[in-house]
Amino acid sequence: MTALISIAGLRKEYASSTGKVVAIDDVSFDLGEGEFLAVIGPSGCGKTTLLRILAGLLPISSGSATLQGQPLTGPSAGIGVVFQEPVLMPWRNVFENVILPLELAGKLDAPATKRTNDLIDLVGLADFRKRHIWELSGGMQQRVAIARALVADPVLLLMDEPFGALDSMTREQMNIELQRICATTGKTTVLVTHNLIEAVFLADRVLVLTPRPASVRALVPITLPPRTRDSIHTPEFGAYVRKLDDLIKGGAHV
Ligand SMILES: Nc1ncnc2c1ncn2[C@@H]1O[C@H](COP(=O)(O)OP(=O)(O)OP(=O)(O)O)[C@@H](O)[C@H]1O
Ligand SMILES: [Mg+2]
Repeated sequence: MTALISIAGLRKEYASSTGKVVAIDDVSFDLGEGEFLAVIGPSGCGKTTLLRILAGLLPISSGSATLQGQPLTGPSAGIGVVFQEPVLMPWRNVFENVILPLELAGKLDAPATKRTNDLIDLVGLADFRKRHIWELSGGMQQRVAIARALVADPVLLLMDEPFGALDSMTREQMNIELQRICATTGKTTVLVTHNLIEAVFLADRVLVLTPRPASVRALVPITLPPRTRDSIHTPEFGAYVRKLDDLIKGGAHV
């Protein structure tokens, strides 16, 4: 079986004013269809760089990065991206923001309207279709961004610290929502996060990166049963969080 995403011997260098910066060095992993991968690592290690490569927004220096066997070069409608800031259009309402990728693709037909409305329902904004973006809370704006990332039915959903700007209670609620959305849509997802509880709560596997240049410290499968709000307080959940914390700090290896 071929993986949906295949990364092999990946290296990424940036040219900077003070010379070459190696952001990623020799990263390899595969991602299967329907899998949820969380990516964690120290600040500045190269997580956003890796996500931008997966989004086809950044060329690689060497190695290979493929989606469905094709090199990841250039943005693709098959990939939905959610950034830390929702990056929505303030002069458009919720419906108009979510439908935008279909509108840009020239697909403003009845199925596009239905799909947009279904996704707005899925992210819990049914009563807010006609609201302006500035009338929404930060968590609601991220729901709009998630619906917009899903509207073109991408094969891959990429998220870079999407809940980083939210308070901890809203963040917990958004984790539960995201778990439900991913289970409903079955989307293959890569989530960059600093939050280890978020990683253990959502992921099938966690990719732990080393300090820059990022290489793979560990790929940890999370073999817990489907997680609920209560699982966070179990010893098994806590043991995973501790293990990831040790791995990030370089104090333990698998
Ligand atoms: N356009 C660029 N030009 C030069 N260097 C860059 C560029 N973008 C990122 N870098 C460098 O590459 C390294 C990795 O950056 P990246 O943004 O991928 O880290 P990160 O893990 O996402 O960090 P954070 O956790 O703070 O979001 C950093 O040292 C950064 O300074
Ligand atoms: Mg980053």
